[in-house]
Amino acid sequence: MTLSPRVRRMAVTAHVTVSVGWVGAVLTFIAIAAVGLTSDDATTVRGSYLVMDAAARFVLVPLALLSLATGVVQSLGTPWGLLRHHWVVVKLLITVLATAVLLLYLRTFAAMAGTAADPAAGLDAVRNPSPLVHAVLALGLLLAATVLGVVKPRGLTRFGRRAAENSRNAHYGP
Ligand code: HEM
Repeated sequence: MTLSPRVRRMAVTAHVTVSVGWVGAVLTFIAIAAVGLTSDDATTVRGSYLVMDAAARFVLVPLALLSLATGVVQSLGTPWGLLRHHWVVVKLLITVLATAVLLLYLRTFAAMAGTAADPAAGLDAVRNPSPLVHAVLALGLLLAATVLGVVKPRGLTRFGRRAAENSRNAHYGP
């Protein structure tokens, strides 16, 4: 499947929009997590964990899945391929890892929101550094994926070298 130049431009626009949008959403998430950890105001602390749960479900998860889906379309629909270049494979691994951890973490977000909504729970039980730590790690991974997407460093995988050889042989034949 090779995308026409017009469709490729639209596809890359969609890919960059959702992927870099995901980076921006993680930055906002870091700010909310930091407020939850440091604020002295009980309502603000409890509210932070409620907002983080909603933001993870309704913003981070859709952006992560869309980034993955548009990235795969972009790879398969262009000569880059999904497994031919190291930079594409690394981006794929980063995105799958970050998305999987996020999906597994949704139960934890729901549990933290439950504690935050419980007036009987003290603020020490509500505060939790885990979302901040995870979001900072995720930001590092997503920034690495952004740099790889823009720089596109050279380097073929073994599969990519074999595919390039096969297509040369098909053109020039024995
Ligand atoms: C955190 C996730 C990701 C981010 C932040 C990201 C970001 C970007 C950026 C900024 C570009 C540059 C567009 C350009 O200048 O040409 C790009 C291109 C690209 N990305 Fe991603 N990306 C992500 C995930 C993925 C995934 C999972 C794949 C594939 C499995 C992928 C495959 C590609 C390909 C093939 C291009 C080149 C498009 C073209 O030249 O037509 N990306 N990405």
